[in-house]
Amino acid sequence: MTATKRTVLRKANGADRSKRCRGTIAFAAAAAVFLAAPNAALAMDFPEALKRVDHALRTNPSNVSQFALDSCFKRRNFAVQLYESRQIERAERSLHFCFDALEIPEVAPEAKEKALDVDKLKAKALKEAEEALRLTANVKDGLEVYRECAKCHKPEGWGLTNGSVPQLAGQHSNVIIKQLMDIRAGSRGNPMMEPFACAEAVSSAQSVADVAGYIDTLEISTANGKGPGINLERGERLYQENCASCHGARGEGDPLKYAPRLQSQHYKYLVNQFRWIRDDKRHNADPAMMALIKDMKTTEAKAMLDYVSRLEPPEELQEPEGWQNPDFAGSRPK
Ligand code: HEC
Ligand code: HEC
Repeated sequence: MTATKRTVLRKANGADRSKRCRGTIAFAAAAAVFLAAPNAALAMDFPEALKRVDHALRTNPSNVSQFALDSCFKRRNFAVQLYESRQIERAERSLHFCFDALEIPEVAPEAKEKALDVDKLKAKALKEAEEALRLTANVKDGLEVYRECAKCHKPEGWGLTNGSVPQLAGQHSNVIIKQLMDIRAGSRGNPMMEPFACAEAVSSAQSVADVAGYIDTLEISTANGKGPGINLERGERLYQENCASCHGARGEGDPLKYAPRLQSQHYKYLVNQFRWIRDDKRHNADPAMMALIKDMKTTEAKAMLDYVSRLEPPEELQEPEGWQNPDFAGSRPK
């Protein structure tokens, strides 16, 4: 037996002995927990779970009976053996008993706090977005801000067809504003964009309003990145059934719901965002949309997004052929 295991055992046995004698009720209750314990998987990886079980064995935070402590300790050692012989799934199931027996909450306290933080950040970003929306945009100042953005989003706001940078042209102003506020608040996982959105350039609600006002003057490119085009009928059906209520029958979006325009957006960008939203990696996502797509397969997503990326905005929003942004004549970023 290793030193740490011995410590755990000693401490577990050393826990208030009077609890051992709380009588048959506690015993029966603990036994019932074991019988009822589901063979569920753990909500975290094994080493993390083991750390928390060992901590609970030492401190007994929920004041459970000695019987529960002893039984958990046996299961815990068995789980470690299984883990060491690479039977991960069985090891996790074995350790799961301890979570029930010792009444350890499945969500770590830090994780709960983090979730709360994200909610706070989201609320703050939305409030700031509403403030920026009430302001009148100064498009000339917006151009000066946009010069920085153009290095990635390009002077025309078309981004890159490989989908690594989104097309901003034609996106609803309030969507642009909300996304910027989210990126600034850190509630949209976005390491590539963050330093720029946080920069002095967009440090005030007014500068955010200005740059959004400027972006609003850009013409939409319909030469955006498209998908392979192999499942468009299925994509259309799925899209119209599931997504059109928010993103519009032609993918035009809905500013009232902060739902982005999807038409003419780069296919690969859409697929990445969809995945991040589904897998809860884009923390600012719409809860109703997340619930809807949580079990959708990536192949279904690809079919829908291929279809919607081929939908075009009305003629008057499309770039006139060969359009280049005159504001950048002679000063295009490399
Ligand atoms: C270093 C390159 C870079 C710069 C500079 C940059 N962006 Fe971005 N931006 C990105 C990338 C990459 C994404 C997509 C990130 C992601 O996948 O979440 C993005 C996403 C966005 C989005 C979200 C679009 C959507 O459809 O949800 C907005 C809005 C945006 N940028 C606006 C701006 C503005 C305004 C500026 C200038 C103040 C700016 N960006 C500067 C790279 C950049
Ligand atoms: C209940 C309304 C709603 C439904 C239904 C919905 N969405 Fe969304 N979607 C949103 C909102 C709102 C956002 C923007 C969330 C945010 O970042 O604030 C969004 C964002 C997106 C984005 C990211 C776009 C970007 O520019 O960053 C994609 C891609 C997307 N949705 C695809 C879909 C698809 C595909 C479906 C159907 C399976 C769907 N959505 C259904 C409301 C919805």
